[in-house]
Amino acid sequence: MENKLSVKVCTGTLCYVMGGAELQLLESYLPAEIAARVDIKGAPCLDCCNRTDAGKAPFVQVGDRIVAEASLFKVAEVIKEMLKAEGKWAE
Ligand code: FES
Repeated sequence: MENKLSVKVCTGTLCYVMGGAELQLLESYLPAEIAARVDIKGAPCLDCCNRTDAGKAPFVQVGDRIVAEASLFKVAEVIKEMLKAEGKWAE
């Protein structure tokens, strides 16, 4: 079984009101060949909103990387970058 890249979209209140609501559409936003290589889940507060060094909400965790001020475009770019780095996707 292929290991998929883990993507956790924060569904905590702060992230949700700061723009996280649109991130619920991430799976349908991604091109099918990329969506097939990621495992997208909602997650309760990732605890980044309580840290001063994490940037601004909304937050998404892609693999071991936290994406601050996450937008659909920004998260998709990070996913592509990480899949490429792992040799799992080429444009
Ligand atoms: S509500 Fe998203 S990190 Fe806390």
